[in-house]
Amino acid sequence: MNIEVRYYTKTGNTKKLADAIAEEVGVEAKPISVPITEETDILFLGSSVYAAEIDPQVKKFIARLDGKVKMVVSFSTAAIYQCAFRQVKKHVNAKGIKVADEEFHCSGQFNLMHKGKPDNKDIANVKEFARKIIEK
Ligand SMILES: Cc1cc2nc3c(=O)[nH]c(=O)nc-3n(C[C@H](O)[C@H](O)[C@H](O)COP(=O)(O)O)c2cc1C
Repeated sequence: MNIEVRYYTKTGNTKKLADAIAEEVGVEAKPISVPITEETDILFLGSSVYAAEIDPQVKKFIARLDGKVKMVVSFSTAAIYQCAFRQVKKHVNAKGIKVADEEFHCSGQFNLMHKGKPDNKDIANVKEFARKIIEK
């Protein structure tokens, strides 16, 4: 099974989850500037919301996906809105690619809010999430 991990981050929160997933599944987490070039069974895709939207670069990355990717699994952080999954799902489905119903989301530090998040518990939880996805 070929697994890829890609993430977009502005302040490092989502990268923490990406690195934890990558460690758990035995691959390297890469930023979305690195395209998917191999047949991929599971693409773990990390994003966040900024002004209630996923970043345009995430939308561009998704727009460039093709039939090489069989399924996308979303993980995300945000300070308030848990809407990255919904937005990612909409864009990925529009490409005819399946999105797993299961997603991982946790709070991410934003100025004085959620200091230290994702924290060690989130890291343990996202690793368990990734393990369950690949064992399915
Ligand atoms: C410019 C900017 C805009 C943001 N807008 C929102 C927002 O509209 N809703 C929200 O829940 N969080 C918002 N946040 C908080 C981020 O979603 C949160 O800190 C997230 O964990 C950032 O992930 P990252 O460190 O991987 O970029 C914003 C953060 C930044 C830097």
